Amino acid sequence: MRVQFATSNEHKVAEARGILAVLGWEVERVAIDYPEVRSPSVEDVALDGARYVADKLGGPVIVEDTGLFIRALKWFPGTYSKYVLNTVDVTGVLRLMEGVDDRYAEFRCAVGFCEPGGDPKAFAGAVPGTINHAPLGDGGFGYDPIFITEGESRTFAQMPVEEKNAVSHRRRALAAFVAWAREEMPGR
Ligand code: IMP
Repeated sequence: MRVQFATSNEHKVAEARGILAVLGWEVERVAIDYPEVRSPSVEDVALDGARYVADKLGGPVIVEDTGLFIRALKWFPGTYSKYVLNTVDVTGVLRLMEGVDDRYAEFRCAVGFCEPGGDPKAFAGAVPGTINHAPLGDGGFGYDPIFITEGESRTFAQMPVEEKNAVSHRRRALAAFVAWAREEMPGR
């Protein structure tokens, strides 16, 4: 089975390919940009983006929105994660976390799927963890160097990508999409 994935982020495509290959799906990347709706919910961003791209593309498509949600910062940066990374970067986030004992954070991911003229659907996946006190590792991307998932001692950036993919928010959201697609679109 094959799916078109609209994203400008090559790391996401690589991870989605690795994750979906295990589940028997092929991913084709589509270079269509879409406006991100302002909402604290990754599901809203994915639903809106999927509808926009499906109509523009004239075919079924998935999009994906991810954010890092830090409890002690009232779940900031959340859906502003990209903007925050592009401005103050992980060092700015670590500065906000100086002297903060509650290090709990989670990545939340939503995969949006839509066919042209149809109603979009969203599939959520989250992974719990903590914010490390310093960036560690050179794998992964984005916030991976400061995020340690529950039960781990390494950051996502220190883990081989297959290990990150086995537990990640992206894996969970894509697996939920695949489970639904197998049920609702057999033979696709
Ligand atoms: P968006 O989903 O493209 O809006 O991504 C939001 C921000 O989170 C971007 O700056 C990404 O680099 C970052 N991000 C997305 N997925 C991951 C991930 O799996 N690990 C670490 N950072 C991520």
